[in-house]
Amino acid sequence: MDAIEDRYKLLHNFAALADLGQEIAETNNFQDMVRASLHLLLGALAIRRGALAEYQEESRTMEFAAQRGINNVALTSLLLTDAEVEELRSQRICRVTAVEQPFRQTHFTSRHQKFLETHGIDLILPLVVRGNLLGLIMLGGKASEQPYSIEDEELVCSMARHIGVGLHTHHLIKEVERRALENLKLYDGMRETYKDTVRAFAAAIDCKDKYTQGHSERVGKYSEIIARELDWSEEHIEGISIAGYLHDVGKLIIDREIINAPGAIDARQWQELNRHPVIGYEILSPINHPYADIPLTTRHHHERVDGRGYPDGLKGDEIPIGAKIVTLADSFDAMTTDRPYRQRRPLEDVLEDLRANTGKQFDHEVVAAFCRAFLKEISGETTDRRITNILGEDYFEPSRILPLLETLLTEIEAKDLLAAGSNR
Ligand SMILES: [Fe+2]
Repeated sequence: MDAIEDRYKLLHNFAALADLGQEIAETNNFQDMVRASLHLLLGALAIRRGALAEYQEESRTMEFAAQRGINNVALTSLLLTDAEVEELRSQRICRVTAVEQPFRQTHFTSRHQKFLETHGIDLILPLVVRGNLLGLIMLGGKASEQPYSIEDEELVCSMARHIGVGLHTHHLIKEVERRALENLKLYDGMRETYKDTVRAFAAAIDCKDKYTQGHSERVGKYSEIIARELDWSEEHIEGISIAGYLHDVGKLIIDREIINAPGAIDARQWQELNRHPVIGYEILSPINHPYADIPLTTRHHHERVDGRGYPDGLKGDEIPIGAKIVTLADSFDAMTTDRPYRQRRPLEDVLEDLRANTGKQFDHEVVAAFCRAFLKEISGETTDRRITNILGEDYFEPSRILPLLETLLTEIEAKDLLAAGSNR
């Protein structure tokens, strides 16, 4: 009966070790992991003392990572020869002292016999996974002072295999984490370099066009505000902001005389200037951007939802949403900033322009999103003052703008309802 109970206990412990395998893989603290593994193994057979040493391939040493019932062993490290490593890799279990004849010691137990005997070690279990030596488990005698039976040896070998796999998985996870972190740092570095390049491009564009200083940056900011209001993901918001920065990159190729012409330009000059979205697309297409659609957004930022825009005369849903956002951001900034040849328009007029051109030049959802974001700022629903800060507080009177934004939003929503009704 006692024997059956003992077996039952052992099986119970063995099952616990299977669970421990998962824990070993998941725990971040290496020390906790090896200590728990060793103690469970010792507990399973009521073994008085034992230790777990980890093999360090570089220094070819066994470093003690956990022990019970053995003093000062943690300060010891055992240097292994190539022959010992080779031999241990092929052993399941090594006895330190003879229990029966003939008895053949391994190179390791023979060379370290004194050390092993001093610390009362009877058995050595090499931890080997996929042919690699990961460490050793060293076990003293059982509390019952009975010798290890064949079944006992089977059990400790099985447990050692679990511990070995746990160690191996732990190392793998650590390695994956290390590489992921390295890649992340590399990727972050690349993103920063990319953003710096974009900023440099934007500065170059604005430098060439002396009338529109800071325009590209503001278009990037307005685009970001609209995308955020449309509940885009952070990654897409970052992408649209970059697209806003770069929308006029094609102007770098256009003749400076045309871009900076102080008055009206002739038909041939207009034709030349209107090439900038396609040129921008051609400049940006060969670049591997971390965000999708940047070249297309640039190409289509002068399209109109009524199909009267350029370069491709796209209509409604044919125009990418990102391009629709940049179109509005671009026009809004053009109307609300001074140029040497004209003053900026009053904000009331600008909102009237948006109202009149929603559904013609501008997409209704994009205008609505911009109005909502602006309304949240003016009504105090948010403490964010991004649009106000770009425009400057002295440019408009919030109490006059607030009802205009509300009316415009109501109008767009009513049109949407009408359109939804007629589509039914
Ligand atoms: Fe443009």
